[in-house]
Amino acid sequence: MTAFPTVDCTVYPYECDAFGHLNEAAFLALFERARWESLARGPGMDVFRRSGVWPAVRKAIIEYRAGAYPGDVLRVETLVTHRGTTSFTLKHVATRVGDGVLISEAELVFVCIDSIGRATPIPQEIARLLGPRTGGGRTGGGDVLRVETGGAVLAVEVRGEGLPVLFVHGFPFDRSMWKHQLAALARYQRIAPDLRGAGASTAPVDGYSMSRYADDLVAVLDAAGVDRAVVCGLSMGGYVTFELLRRHPDRVHALILCDTKAEADSPQARHGRDELAALAERAGATAVAERLLPELLAPATHTAQPEVVQQVKAMIAGTSVAGLVGALHALRDRPDSTALLPQIRVPTLVLGGADDQIAPPAVMQAMAAVIPGSQFATVPSAGHLAPLEQPLATSRRLADFLGALA
Ligand code: MLT
Repeated sequence: MTAFPTVDCTVYPYECDAFGHLNEAAFLALFERARWESLARGPGMDVFRRSGVWPAVRKAIIEYRAGAYPGDVLRVETLVTHRGTTSFTLKHVATRVGDGVLISEAELVFVCIDSIGRATPIPQEIARLLGPRTGGGRTGGGDVLRVETGGAVLAVEVRGEGLPVLFVHGFPFDRSMWKHQLAALARYQRIAPDLRGAGASTAPVDGYSMSRYADDLVAVLDAAGVDRAVVCGLSMGGYVTFELLRRHPDRVHALILCDTKAEADSPQARHGRDELAALAERAGATAVAERLLPELLAPATHTAQPEVVQQVKAMIAGTSVAGLVGALHALRDRPDSTALLPQIRVPTLVLGGADDQIAPPAVMQAMAAVIPGSQFATVPSAGHLAPLEQPLATSRRLADFLGALA
């Protein structure tokens, strides 16, 4: 049993403001109503009192996405995105039942307090209901398929229904880099594999290449029962997406190219791959994390979002050496994809962090300029990992693009 089953809430006239719709303050109340309703249907509204604690809201971020009016029925999905010792974080996603439009998202941090207001460990019964403690920022709330392909077993998260969107992570990351988008894009079927050698997938000793990764994605789509998907690839995920387009164009419905580029490595960059692989073998994944972190994130992320820095560090440090070295060989040997760009015939969004040093906006813009009919956008205050550094702005841009495809 989960503490928070999905519930539908009707919008009442008295909740709406002078403009006749729900504003942020009203969303706060609506999400609270949804939480109580969930508890009433699940473990009981008195579940916290029974354990002698109270969940106090410490922080709330409400993202207003579209108008909701009296009589609308909003479906509120609630996910536990973090569980610590005394605190937990919930993400609410409200979509309108009538047309599936994403109306609002919210992230709320709760601290369990005792009768005199002191932070207190989450009682066992509640911890069980909230689910496992989160570590390196793994996503939650979906089915995880195990997909066997080409000598590896891939962990693939599949959530929701609707137009399928395949999220392909970059190097040296895993599917948890998409955790906010997997939670937010509730109108779509979200499919997020850990590529071979990354996250919870197995890491064969060799055989890594862009074509192997692309064939793995086909196995992932087959396992999910999906013919064609919108493919959203970040950086190395973009390189794999180019290969997928070359090898299996019939599986690609539309493209989202995030923080990526079409050129192959220069001789100097190829040399850098070998050096990094040697570092991984000599000093392990943590040393790779230390080496890469400074240029991965925007300056604003380094100074203002230490938890994001920590997540990225833990994600890299958790990657096996075989996976790192295999990916570095695949990156080093990848083909140039510039000739492919003018041949792309599917709707394409090119999206990058405004402060990305690895795939800078100018490079992304030049790439978009030669993809017929493509759109180009940047995410302010984000580096190479816009989906983690600026999750709401990134999800909104993706939702706008996906919404126009429907
Ligand atoms: C990535 O994020 O996938 C890497 O930055 C790709 C690369 O090093 O070229």
